[in-house]
Amino acid sequence: MITTTRRGTVGFDEAGAGVPVLLLHGFPLDRTLWSPQLAAPARGARLIAPDLPGFGESARVAVPSLDEWADWCMAFCDALALTRVVVAGLSMGGYLAFSLWRRHPERISGLVLADTRAGADSDEGKAKRLAMQQMVREKGVGAVADAMITGMVGKTTRETRPKVVAFLGEMMRGASVDGVSDALDAMRTRADSTATLATITVPTLIICGAEDALTPLKESEAMHLAIPDSQLGVIPAAGHASNIEHPAAFDALLSGFLAARIA
Ligand code: MLT
Repeated sequence: MITTTRRGTVGFDEAGAGVPVLLLHGFPLDRTLWSPQLAAPARGARLIAPDLPGFGESARVAVPSLDEWADWCMAFCDALALTRVVVAGLSMGGYLAFSLWRRHPERISGLVLADTRAGADSDEGKAKRLAMQQMVREKGVGAVADAMITGMVGKTTRETRPKVVAFLGEMMRGASVDGVSDALDAMRTRADSTATLATITVPTLIICGAEDALTPLKESEAMHLAIPDSQLGVIPAAGHASNIEHPAAFDALLSGFLAARIA
């Protein structure tokens, strides 16, 4: 589906009925990351998965920053008449969830932080973002996909589930050069959210694939220690794209959390 908000065109999918859950995808992906969840929505949940700015069918925004994207998300919620939502973000979507919490806490009834981290990019990380920006401009999104695919899934998925790896690779290749470049700017300039963790007052579910090499389990454990009302679920034999590597385990954590803490 496509809608137009005061901040531009948004491509999105939705499924299910009940508590609204805004699903925010990672980099350099799009809303189809959430296809296993949308195909079998958790009981009592209305899942809403937008393409983030510059990805899929969503238009870019003028200033590529996570704070701008957070306001863009709220314009999208307004267009759908959603007053409060559970925000569920994977990796880059988690970085965005922190901006959303800082800027629009009154619109958030719960948080799901999947395979993400609170810290900002290190100087080395920022330099890598700039190098990747140059790579995507010179060689295209295929080069970014080739560079990222190994880290995107866990060892078990890489060795035993070629279809999952191919699906993610295809999704990455579908991104646009501008969308990838904007997201690299947004992630490179993002704030450090470590101090934000203690301010989170809504129930929070943290999920991490046990084999996640990009945002390792220790990052999730640190978030769990710092967020007062949080729980941590670890998905065995899954890596960074835990929701797509083990949808059943991810969905069980999500539906248990929604039923026990939000509904
Ligand atoms: C993602 O999956 O969104 C990215 O790995 C996040 C990042 O590059 O920091």
